Amino acid sequence: MDKYLVTGGAGFIGSNLVESLVLQKNEVIVVDDLSMGKYSNISEFIDSGVTFYHKSITDFSFMQELLKKEKFNYIVLLGAVASVADSVARPLETHEINLEANLNIFETVRKFEIPVKKILFASSAAVYGNNPELPKKETSVIDPLTPYAVDKFASERYAISYGKLYGLPTVATRFFNVYGPKQNPESPYSGVLSIIHNCLLNDSKFTVFGDGEQTRDFTYVKDVIKALMLLLHDERALHDVYNVATGKWTTLNDDIHAFEKAMDKKIDVEYLPARTGDIKESYADITKLSLLGYHAEFSINEGLREYVESEDD
Ligand code: NAD
Ligand code: UD1
Repeated sequence: MDKYLVTGGAGFIGSNLVESLVLQKNEVIVVDDLSMGKYSNISEFIDSGVTFYHKSITDFSFMQELLKKEKFNYIVLLGAVASVADSVARPLETHEINLEANLNIFETVRKFEIPVKKILFASSAAVYGNNPELPKKETSVIDPLTPYAVDKFASERYAISYGKLYGLPTVATRFFNVYGPKQNPESPYSGVLSIIHNCLLNDSKFTVFGDGEQTRDFTYVKDVIKALMLLLHDERALHDVYNVATGKWTTLNDDIHAFEKAMDKKIDVEYLPARTGDIKESYADITKLSLLGYHAEFSINEGLREYVESEDD
C-alpha cells in the first residue's frame, strides 16, 4: 500500500485515477478547489482511504505543509485549468494554477528533501500546436499557441529539469484528448465529447467551432489510467515525456456521427467560426509508450459505447 497525492483528484481524469488507486488499496489524498471537479466524483471513496482537501494548489503554504507532513510515495499533478479556450480568456489566472503551483510543489520536494518514488506531471498534446508534422512524436517541434500550452510545456520542462538537476524522480505525460465518465460537461470550455453527450441527453443544439474537420486522437479514460499506472511504476520512465493516446485520429464530424450511433439519436448541429488558438490537426505517435508495454484497448466506437453504458447505470 502506498500513499498518493492527486491534485485535481475530484476532476475527470483525477477521479477515475482515485477509483483505481482505492481498488488497489492505496491511501489517497486529493487537493481540488472544485472549480471544475465535483466532490460527488470521489465521495463514495472517502471511507475507503481517500482524504479530500477543498483547497487551491495556489495556496503555496498549505501545499508546502501538506507535502512536509504527509510524505507521499507518489505525487500525480493533474490539477489545472484544463481548457485551452479558458486560458486564452484568463491568461494570468491560469498561469498561476497551470505553472506556478506545480513549480511550488517541485521546489518544496527539493528544498525539504521529501523522499518520493515518482512525481508525474500531466502535460498536453497542445504543446505541439499546429506543427504540420503528423503524427506528433515526443521529438516533434514544439509550438505552444496558447497560454495553456505555454504553461504545460514549461511545467513539463521544470519536471524534467528538477529531475536531472536535483534528482527528483519525475516523469511527464502528453495526454491527447481524453473522454469518458465523470467529465464535467457544464462549462462552454468542457471537453467536446462531454458537451456532445450532454446535448444528446437533453436534446439541445450542439455548436461546432470551425468546419468540424479538425482531427483529434480521442483516448478513453481507462486507457489513460492504464498509462498513468505504467509510467508511475516503471523505473525506466524517468526524467522524460510520453505521449498518451491511441495513435488514431478522427474528425469532429466523425465523432458526432459515432456518438449519434452509440446513443441511437440525432443531434441538432450549428456551425460557427473556429476558436482563436484552436489546433487543426492532432494525433499521436505512441511508439515510446508502447515500448514500455502499453497498448490502447479502446477505439473511439468502443470507448463511446462504454461511456454511454456507464452513464446509464
Ligand atoms: P478537469 O477539469 O476535470 O480536472 C482538473 C481538476 O483540477 C478539476 O477537478 C479542477 O476543479 C481542479 N483544479 C483547477 N484549478 C485548481 C486549483 N487552483 N487548485 C486545485 N484544483 C484545481 O480536467 P481533466 O480532463 O481531468 O484534466 C486533468 C489534467 O490533465 C489537467 O492537468 C489537464 O490539463 C490535463 N490534460 C487533460 C486532457 C483531456 O483531454 N482531458 C488532455 C491533456 C491534458
Ligand atoms: C483538449 C483538452 C485539453 C488538452 C488537449 C490535448 C479539455 C477541455 N481540453 O483540448 O486539456 O490539453 O485536448 O489535445 O479537456 N469544440 C466545438 N464545440 C464545442 C467545444 C469544442 O466545436 O462546444 C471543438 C474545439 O474548437 C476543438 C475540438 O472541438 O476544435 C476539441 O475541443 P476541446 O474538447 O475543448 O479540446 P482541445 O482544445 O483539443
